[in-house]
Amino acid sequence: MKSLIKKLVEINSPSGYESKIRDVIRAEVEPYADDIRVDALGNLIARKGHSGKKIMLAAHMDEIGVIITHIDEKGFARFTGLGGVRVANLPGSRVRFLNGATGVIGLERADENGRVPALDQMYIDLGASSRENCPVRLADVAAFERPFADLGNRLVSKAMDDRIGVAILIQTLARIKQPAHTLYFVFSVQEEVGIRGAVTAAFSLDPDIGIAVDVTDTGDTPKGIKMEVSLGKGPAIKVRDSGMLTDPRLVELMVDTANKARIPYQLEILERGTTDARAIQLTREGVPAGCISIPCRYIHSPSEMVDYSDVENAVNLLVKLLTNPFDIL
Ligand code: CO
Ligand code: ZN
Repeated sequence: MKSLIKKLVEINSPSGYESKIRDVIRAEVEPYADDIRVDALGNLIARKGHSGKKIMLAAHMDEIGVIITHIDEKGFARFTGLGGVRVANLPGSRVRFLNGATGVIGLERADENGRVPALDQMYIDLGASSRENCPVRLADVAAFERPFADLGNRLVSKAMDDRIGVAILIQTLARIKQPAHTLYFVFSVQEEVGIRGAVTAAFSLDPDIGIAVDVTDTGDTPKGIKMEVSLGKGPAIKVRDSGMLTDPRLVELMVDTANKARIPYQLEILERGTTDARAIQLTREGVPAGCISIPCRYIHSPSEMVDYSDVENAVNLLVKLLTNPFDIL
């Protein structure tokens, strides 16, 4: 599965420009899905099974990036974020544009107070000397550039958020031979700019139950946030984030399933952030929705870190959950 993860995270597909990653995912799911379609926004929807309850599974395939707002006469490009880029993570980062151009993020000289710089004090240096020979134009977009690193149990890359969720859904689909339900694997677009793809996918599928797979913060780094989630202690069953309260019946079902199968898990209470599950929960007249989260350090930096055993256990939990019949509604 590590080679699949490497393949997925190294694709350059920021929000709104998911065609490259979509092609790769389509090729991966083609052997296992009963049916595949792409909707108007670009969500890739793979179905498996045709009886029982409709379950929508969602992992977003976009990643954070930048978009050019202005290029000065010396060829330095100014930019804004596509999704939640964190200024402290930017200086020295490399970005790769869809046209292949590579740039490095530079910083104006700091003021006397040594404050954390704002986005408008940064620029992208593409090695150009004028606007004319700058290889990018207004409105061009880029994603961060950083190769995958296998540290043994821990894996590091840009775009673990949420290609790790994509890898987990692909692996789950591959392992389920006889689903107990009608499963829709949705690889959603534009999550990082406001959970947009999942909104239209949930409306069109009108599922009975929704489950997102995405990353979550951890509280296990020096002076980190106070949070009872750590790398390596199992996938986190979301109870609450800032956009959603998981349906308690789904929390119970996931916890029971994990306990019976002796799969390690953690409970997640996230203070800031939400996932595609929120969009599913609030579609139409409302849908019971939950989320399986992968603990991840340094989210929205070019070096997001996950634990491989959490990834494997997330697949194990999903396979158990979706293979056995249940009726919680
Ligand atoms: Co994110
Ligand atoms: Zn995410």
